Amino acid sequence: MRLKRMSVIFGGGVFLGWGRFAGRGLTFYHIKMTEVLEQEAKNLTTHASKYTRNNPYTSTVRVNELLTGEGSEKETRHIELSLEEGMEYSPGDAVGILPENRRPVVDELIATLGFKGDERVLDHYKVEISLEEAVRTRLMIGALSRGSVNQYSKLAPQIDGLKAMTGPDNKARAEEYCWGREFIDLVKDFPGVVTAPQQLFTVLQRLAPRMYSIASSQKMHQDNVQTTVRVVRYESHGRDRQGVASGHLGERAPVGATMPIFLHANQNFRLPEDTSAPVIMIGPGTGIAPFRAFLEERQATGQSGDNWLFFGEQREALDYLYKDEFQAMHKDGVLTRLDTAFSRDQAKKIYVQDRMQEKAAELYEWLERGAYFYVCGDATRMAKDVELALLDAIAKGSNGTLDHANEYLENMKKQKRYQRDTY
Ligand SMILES: Cc1cc2nc3c(=O)[nH]c(=O)nc-3n(C[C@H](O)[C@H](O)[C@H](O)COP(=O)(O)OP(=O)(O)OC[C@H]3O[C@@H](n4cnc5c(N)ncnc54)[C@H](O)[C@@H]3O)c2cc1C
Ligand SMILES: NC(=O)c1ccc[n+]([C@@H]2O[C@H](COP(=O)([O-])OP(=O)(O)OC[C@H]3O[C@@H](n4cnc5c(N)ncnc54)[C@H](OP(=O)(O)O)[C@@H]3O)[C@@H](O)[C@H]2O)c1
Repeated sequence: MRLKRMSVIFGGGVFLGWGRFAGRGLTFYHIKMTEVLEQEAKNLTTHASKYTRNNPYTSTVRVNELLTGEGSEKETRHIELSLEEGMEYSPGDAVGILPENRRPVVDELIATLGFKGDERVLDHYKVEISLEEAVRTRLMIGALSRGSVNQYSKLAPQIDGLKAMTGPDNKARAEEYCWGREFIDLVKDFPGVVTAPQQLFTVLQRLAPRMYSIASSQKMHQDNVQTTVRVVRYESHGRDRQGVASGHLGERAPVGATMPIFLHANQNFRLPEDTSAPVIMIGPGTGIAPFRAFLEERQATGQSGDNWLFFGEQREALDYLYKDEFQAMHKDGVLTRLDTAFSRDQAKKIYVQDRMQEKAAELYEWLERGAYFYVCGDATRMAKDVELALLDAIAKGSNGTLDHANEYLENMKKQKRYQRDTY
């Protein structure tokens, strides 16, 4: 391990600092990169600065339990990871996990490329490691990107099938090819292109850490951090596939296993400073995670503000994550209101925003009492639909127009009373 000065620019985000390289190096993370880097730069001056994505903490898996029932279409797990004394987080933060690719896929890829695995390569920091280690821990061999197809094609410009997927005119064709495919598919479809192991560093992106919303309050769990992870598994083009990080957590992280992690602060998703302020939380699916942390924090510190949780999943019997805990909190009064929407328990789908609409008058009354409104989970559809339902509740409650509701929401944003953590 060496101490080095880092100065890296990625997609508009700048990261400067001193760090001890654990050999994994800086990684490109496609979502929210600029914010992540800015936040990590801030973290350099806080408690979280000791361990970062470049210098992760080797955590031990304490708990890894299935939350969903047998027969569920989902595999969602509750995971607890050990922390070293001095590592601190707040509700709303995330934990970053540095995953490894699956060994059978790594071995298959190396064999398909015609290599042995013990060849020596230089990683992104010019540290010499074996090809096997590089493919397992440094390179993104999962979900194929257009960039990789492009680089691969540059190694073999004579192959027409590859040429047909490069250049601005062929973007759609390349995207269609990449969807549901991984690097192994490209190598099988167009063999003999990579002639030297080091070329993989030009073709493939770095294996990036994945973020998971923290599902616990440190006031209750001082020496560990907890998360709620949906394991990504799918079948495409005749192969069973899995997400690299969620697959690692789901399949290759039994109790006692170790895993490099770091804490990532998120100042834009925080409980109100006023502990008596009411909060409304919309958390379908794994979006529930930060709200479990919020509620534990409010319970542990005896905060007097009212709490209203909307949770949604497919089926009550199979997918009601943390059911016993939330029901106990409801019984004890920590959760003032608990509303659920199980989309597939009846012929017509019911989503969290339908429950919001049913309770629109009361929801508006809470907002008028100064409630903070939080949303976590799916960014593509859910968060937008929930915002529409919120605007509708505001318009109805205030007997106002949609323009008025938009103004009201803008005002809430200014007061940090509308916060979202979606992915
Ligand atoms: C701030 C933040 C907080 C988050 N919190 C959580 C959380 O609390 N819990 C949680 O579970 N996740 C959370 N996520 C998502 C998480 O970070 C990962 O993105 C997720 O676990 C997938 O990562 P992976 O490495 O398992 O999958 P990857 O290896 O990244 O694979 C995912 C890719 O596989 C492909 N793919 C997936 N399904 C299919 C399919 N059916 N057909 C074809 N291709 C497919 C797609 O290209 C997709 O992008 C969060 C993300 C962010 C940014
Ligand atoms: N990058 C990845 O590969 C990856 C990995 C894990 C999670 N995620 C994302 O993380 C988010 C959470 O995933 P999750 O599986 O825990 O839960 P989810 O997919 O958000 O599902 C939770 C509940 O929300 C419902 N739902 C679907 N569309 C909705 C909408 N427009 N508005 C409100 N509710 C809606 C679902 O119903 P139905 O299913 O019955 O429609 C289900 O009952 C999703 O965005 C998911 O894609 C991504």
